[in-house]
Amino acid sequence: MRMRKKKNADARLASHEGLVLSRPEAPIGRTEGRELFLEIGAGKGGFAIEMARRDPQADYYAMERVKDCIVIAVEKADAEARPENLHFIIDGADELPLWFAEGAVDKIFLNFSDPWHKKGYFKRRLTYRKYLALYFSLLREGGELCFKTDNVPLFDFSLEELASVDLVPEIVTRDLHASPYNEGNVMTEYEQAFAAQGLPIHMLRVKKPAGYLPHYTEPKREKTEAEDPD
Ligand SMILES: C[S@@+](CC[C@H](N)C(=O)[O-])C[C@H]1O[C@@H](n2cnc3c(N)ncnc32)[C@H](O)[C@@H]1O
Repeated sequence: MRMRKKKNADARLASHEGLVLSRPEAPIGRTEGRELFLEIGAGKGGFAIEMARRDPQADYYAMERVKDCIVIAVEKADAEARPENLHFIIDGADELPLWFAEGAVDKIFLNFSDPWHKKGYFKRRLTYRKYLALYFSLLREGGELCFKTDNVPLFDFSLEELASVDLVPEIVTRDLHASPYNEGNVMTEYEQAFAAQGLPIHMLRVKKPAGYLPHYTEPKREKTEAEDPD
């Protein structure tokens, strides 16, 4: 759903100084003794804010390309005590190499990524193989990609894309909330809405194996209608 344009977005962001980062001169690396967690497509920020509050020993970065979403997120973060370990980034996933050093990231979260269901748009999905190669170059060995969605075709697509780059998830569940993996689960804004409608939440986690070299090849042809239905 397209977000309604926020009035005075820049002024509203400016009044929350320090929460939104400017592009760094050099990619961000790990801080000794602290974990680095990254959410891509953070929306209104509820997940990253709660995760950062629960885990002050880790640094949380929440990337979202729509400024109007980040306006809501920063206001939410500062509505109660701001978690000092939380940082927002207004940028698109393609720019990740400008932001983070290779091997710097412990966990990447993709929550309810846009499904881009129309035929021909599959390369925009955040679990397309090109993005997987990017994420797995940023993750350290043993680091983890965590993905949640209500969208069955997107989940199936994501499993295929992982297989195409020789990655095997350690955990796959098609009903997260009824599974043992739900313990400690932080619900996102979209997750709350879908769960309220009774939709099962799909989740997978995949670790970067030792010695894994990120790679991908573009598919030779566009997917057929059956493989990539509207
Ligand atoms: C469906 S919303 C989900 C928001 C939030 N994760 C949640 O679960 O409530 C997907 C979000 O991903 C953002 N997004 C989509 N493609 C992106 C990209 N390439 N880089 C950064 N953010 C992206 C969209 O702007 C949107 O806010």
